[in-house]
Amino acid sequence: MKIELRDIHKHFGSLRANDGVTLSVAPGTIHGLLGENGAGKSTLMKILNGFIAADSGEILLDGKPVTMTSPAQAVTRGVGMLYQDPLDFSALTVLDNFVLGSPGGLVPDRGRARRELRELLNRFDFTLDPDTHVSDLSIGERQQLEISRLLWLGARTLVLDEPTTAISAQQRDKLFATLRKLAQEGMSVIFVSHKLEEVEALCDEVTVLNRGRVTGQARQPYATDKLVQMMFGQNIPRLKRQPQPVQAGGPQVQLDRVTVSDWRLELQDLRLDILPGEVIGLAGLEGSGQLLLLQTCCGLRAPSAGRVRLAGVDMTGQSYHRLQKVGVAYMPAGRLEEGLIAGMTLTEHVALAEHKGSFFVNWSGAAGSTAKSVEHFHIKGRPASRIEELSGGNQQRTLLALLPPQLKLLLMEHPTRGLDIESVEYIWKLLLERTKQGTAIIFLSSDLEELLDRSDRILVFFGGQVAAPLDARRVNVEQLGELIGGKGFTEGGAHEPHN
Ligand SMILES: Nc1ncnc2c1ncn2[C@@H]1O[C@H](COP(=O)(O)OP(=O)(O)O)[C@@H](O)[C@H]1O
Ligand SMILES: [Mg+2]
Repeated sequence: MKIELRDIHKHFGSLRANDGVTLSVAPGTIHGLLGENGAGKSTLMKILNGFIAADSGEILLDGKPVTMTSPAQAVTRGVGMLYQDPLDFSALTVLDNFVLGSPGGLVPDRGRARRELRELLNRFDFTLDPDTHVSDLSIGERQQLEISRLLWLGARTLVLDEPTTAISAQQRDKLFATLRKLAQEGMSVIFVSHKLEEVEALCDEVTVLNRGRVTGQARQPYATDKLVQMMFGQNIPRLKRQPQPVQAGGPQVQLDRVTVSDWRLELQDLRLDILPGEVIGLAGLEGSGQLLLLQTCCGLRAPSAGRVRLAGVDMTGQSYHRLQKVGVAYMPAGRLEEGLIAGMTLTEHVALAEHKGSFFVNWSGAAGSTAKSVEHFHIKGRPASRIEELSGGNQQRTLLALLPPQLKLLLMEHPTRGLDIESVEYIWKLLLERTKQGTAIIFLSSDLEELLDRSDRILVFFGGQVAAPLDARRVNVEQLGELIGGKGFTEGGAHEPHN
């Protein structure tokens, strides 16, 4: 089945999740939809599948315009989708789940359904027992069940949204083999992912989304650096960070021949001096070692060799708690998972942040500070708003409002990911004020322009190796994209102190 999406628009408030997306998928192919988190992939696929409605745009199946009103209706038209967050019918058996929404109406013929399920399972070498409960299946097995069910319901196009997130490498190989087989039989497959290697390994063609827009299309064989540029580049002109006057005193942070590892990667012999007020951007594909460095600097991970110094004081091996006390703060990527607590109001967050050491929380004090923070940080919300009711931009402003006033070092993951432009500018304005007071910033981002525009120096990570620091004013998007993809990458151990 040929799928065409034409000029799809979808906004959530001021955020344009899909901003004029056009995409075409040929029958019998596996088409990758590639983009960083927040690029708009799930939104686009939910529109194709009738889960949400587009603001405007057209969907054509085999050349005919259609309206998709619900996933159940979409599958009768041949489009089936596996969601990123799988719906849960865990109380049911495999067979019950299989017949859900079956074309036979309310009382499906279970005997026939059982036979047909068996046939489908055999066809793909899936080893599911129709009588086990879905709750006993692994995520990979649930996917197998869902694929079987959608095919049985008549899907001729299968959309899989980030299907490899929670499955083993073995299950992934199995899934890829299944998808290849489906494509050979003439089905269309849309494989949604933020993982470059997986798209390269599996997909015949790829469309790249970035901030709600298509930034490029490519087919096998792929040029990795081009794909990286399409994923991360962005064409919104922004103010570049001006060179900052060198502040007095020695380095704020010193990594002295640090070696640190997790179960997967080892950063070796890292040497880096960061001056007060300096901004260091960390670049690289996800999982290339950037997090190790952040964790080492804030005491969440102890180096196996070398020293970490903060304003000249040796802090090697000190706990996160201890480092917080001396002026280190860490803003993780999952705002709601790690930084903010769902269900709690703005006021409660402020009370917790101010509640240092003493057993009793000062609620009346907190109410006053909250009103002040809401005003000063331009948070669009009331002190009594629950944190999850705020938009991403306002959640991020809240996190910033909660940071202690005097910081030596601020560590951030994706400080502006998924935020609207206005919030991005505002957040960087606040951060710039911090650097003027001497706070050093290390941030990780997958937005190349953000790295180039906001950093003084950039460290590129590739498979646990770190290149020598780059002067952010002397590299461009293309060069940075190539380095991130491993082209021209040479390990520099981050040796130079400053330039
Ligand atoms: N229901 C929603 N309400 C508000 N914002 C949303 C909603 N769904 C998605 N978004 C926002 O739209 C943008 C695109 O999200 P999404 O399509 O999930 O991206 P992706 O799947 O590429 O990670 C993100 O900034 C996300 O926060
Ligand atoms: Mg998604």
